Amino acid sequence: MPDTEPAEEAKRAAIAKRLQQRFPTIDDLRERARRRVPRFAFDFVDGGANEETCVARNRAALQGVELLPRYCVEAKGTSTEVELFGTRHAAPIGISPMGSPGLIWPGADEHLARAAQAARIPFVLSTPANAAIERIAALAPDMFWFQLYRFPHNDHAITFDLVRRADAAGARVLVPTVDSAGKSKRPRDIRNGVALPFPITPRNAWQVATSPAWAWSLIKHGMPRTENLVPYAGPDPTQVSTARTMQLRSGGSHTWEELARLRERWQRAFVVKGILHPADAERAVALGADGIIVSNHGGRHFDGAPASIDMLPAIVAAVGARATVMIDSGIRGGLDVVRALALGAKAGFAGRPFLYGLAALGPIGARHVIDMFLDEIRTEFIHVGIRTTTEAATIPARHRGAWRLAASP
Ligand code: FNR
Repeated sequence: MPDTEPAEEAKRAAIAKRLQQRFPTIDDLRERARRRVPRFAFDFVDGGANEETCVARNRAALQGVELLPRYCVEAKGTSTEVELFGTRHAAPIGISPMGSPGLIWPGADEHLARAAQAARIPFVLSTPANAAIERIAALAPDMFWFQLYRFPHNDHAITFDLVRRADAAGARVLVPTVDSAGKSKRPRDIRNGVALPFPITPRNAWQVATSPAWAWSLIKHGMPRTENLVPYAGPDPTQVSTARTMQLRSGGSHTWEELARLRERWQRAFVVKGILHPADAERAVALGADGIIVSNHGGRHFDGAPASIDMLPAIVAAVGARATVMIDSGIRGGLDVVRALALGAKAGFAGRPFLYGLAALGPIGARHVIDMFLDEIRTEFIHVGIRTTTEAATIPARHRGAWRLAASP
């Protein structure tokens, strides 16, 4: 027995090295994913709203942030660890919440949760995920955060029941998302005929038939359901009825009054996701939010939105002294995380990169993407001449795209 663990570890290290050589960037994984899963599934994850200018803007804005390195610093002992809401994490990177991830890789939530727990980074389960709160809490007890959408029907009965379940399961952080105010127009999904529930139709059967690894994984795993909605979908909670319940019962942006009610009921950390205006950040913190995730939903909802990195400095200036400011949208590697830290974020999150990893490589892809982030963050710390995550806020940064905006109501 004592010898199996080192042997397992050596095997894992050898696989990790091979993956690093074959897929050194998120773009390599994205390209493989594109070829390996049905087109409608890839497009569902990869696409954005309208002309996808916001998706492109997120990348361009991050790439435009320059960091000024300092040299002659001993690199030995560099640590990427970070404390978020009383829990120590391996690095300031987390997995953003994503709904219906089973479309691009069946079992995605479970694979990501297990990998996040093993690597010690936060995993945010989405409300319309394909695994239930209780299941993910069992797989990632220390790293599990829960993202909450709004269900106004019957005085928010479903919303509050989800909060109760997340609390009972021990979710570390509650993350209400506020930037999904209305339905979004994603032309790729419209062209591909993607409407949940699961869109396998005669029209796209050829895409399925030519994606054997994906089809096999679907057969093994079964059709993904909107698992969190099972208790509210009637006596026969099928894939169709749970997705319909989500569609019919949820909608709109949590209002300030509703957020205050949620804050009151939730004892642990409370983080509002999808904030772009510093005045909204002020309001969220005033009602008791412990943190903010600056985000434009990866450009999936409102194509006119600024890049989230371009709003970050104004939000840090408004609430950074009182709340933990984090960010997502467009982060594709360790350098982007360090750019965000230099501009005052305490952590960065990424969404699509983790699903590209799964689609490209299967379950092992989750760990590969995490390893890539951890390794790159450490490397970039060394390049800019810092030894700890806290020091990152001192890195001189030039950020021409930053919005300058007074925090007015
Ligand atoms: C999302 N996102 C999202 N956000 C959220 O709060 N609840 C949700 O259910 C979802 N669903 C979802 C599905 C898919 C397929 C994607 C790609 C994204 C947005 C997500 O949390 C995050 O804000 C973005 O993905 C970040 O941008 P990048 O890293 O994907 O560029």
